[in-house]
Amino acid sequence: ADNHPFYGAHQSGIVTPAQDRLHFAAFDMAAETTRTDLIELLQDWTIAAGAMTAGREIGEFGAVSGPYDAPPQDTGEAQDLPAAGLTITVGFGPSLFESGDGVDRFGIAHRRPERLVELPHFPGDALEEKRSGGDLCIQACADDPQVAVHAIRNLSRIAFGRASLRWSQLGFGRTSSTSTAQTTPRNLFGFKDGTNNVKAEDTATVDTQIWVQPQDGPAWLAGGSYLVARRIRMTIETWDRTILREQEAVIGRTKGEGAPLSGGTEFTPPDFEATGRDDEPLIDRAAHMRLAHPSTNNGTAILRRGYNFVDGNDPLGRLDAGLFFLSFQRSPKQFIDVQLNLAKNDALNEYIRHVGSAIFAVPPGAAEGSYVGATLF
Ligand code: HEM
Repeated sequence: ADNHPFYGAHQSGIVTPAQDRLHFAAFDMAAETTRTDLIELLQDWTIAAGAMTAGREIGEFGAVSGPYDAPPQDTGEAQDLPAAGLTITVGFGPSLFESGDGVDRFGIAHRRPERLVELPHFPGDALEEKRSGGDLCIQACADDPQVAVHAIRNLSRIAFGRASLRWSQLGFGRTSSTSTAQTTPRNLFGFKDGTNNVKAEDTATVDTQIWVQPQDGPAWLAGGSYLVARRIRMTIETWDRTILREQEAVIGRTKGEGAPLSGGTEFTPPDFEATGRDDEPLIDRAAHMRLAHPSTNNGTAILRRGYNFVDGNDPLGRLDAGLFFLSFQRSPKQFIDVQLNLAKNDALNEYIRHVGSAIFAVPPGAAEGSYVGATLF
């Protein structure tokens, strides 16, 4: 895997070709922390992220070269591993900007992007507080799970006393492709996922739909993006008892090739007008792909970057499995518009349940010698 530098105009981990593994973490700032604490935390995270994404250990001495009478600076489990395409992407939640009890803890309340507010309640939402929200987030993606976990573990350790983990999520398989050079992977319903995703090579769409533009405001967020995370439980036991014809109708594509049900091969554009012998549309009116497609949403596109998860099983013997949905967009409105459309009408809703939710403003990339989020202060 290629190394992806932490520094640059945009943060990596967005249009970067989606890696195979994820460890995502949401943090809350500790009580009584100050603006200086927050800035120093972001500075410390930046230095550590710069090292780890280059395949280096944390700190001057790493895992085993430091004093014998002190805990090692690096936890050590990535010692013999390459960077494995690691990216570390940092975001700021709406609560970071809140002034609790009238006190503006970090002096940034007036700099909150107007659009950065908690997502509205969508029909069918069954959100769990303990899997939602967060002052800060870190998305760590890599082609080796141990590298991604090492990153979150060490960044959490560095945050000790300043910020603590609120919730975290492991993902074991990518469910998107973000480059035309990648093959399309499959989600846990067995369908190709990411076929009509926004791809890095389509720079015009990336600029108009993914990066916050200077005229959007606030100035500190230009070159950044908004990240939406949704933990979506998939009731795979029900799905697995559903006939193939129905599975394909729900998605709007074939299960093998991933071709639209209107015909062609995987990348043939869907024809939503095409009808069959019974005059019914070949792509069902409630098909997920139809309802999510830009043409049904006034041209709106989002960059999906989610992962499959299986977190053991529930007391009824069903796998706690699903899609940890991640998307990047220039404005939260893009996700909200598409999700409203899906929540109301999508045939897929019979088989999924949204149980976690969070939104973050993702600042632009850090300049070398500076730190991530510096433009906010
Ligand atoms: C497309 C699955 C949730 C937005 C697709 C496709 C599949 C799929 C199989 C077709 C292949 C492709 O173009 O990627 C799922 C599953 C979900 C889920 C299993 C939940 C467990 C969501 C959510 C959103 C979303 C929550 C956004 C709010 C989209 C978009 C497309 C898409 C924008 C592309 C439509 C197009 O342009 O053709 N999804 N999806 N999906 N999905 Fe989902």
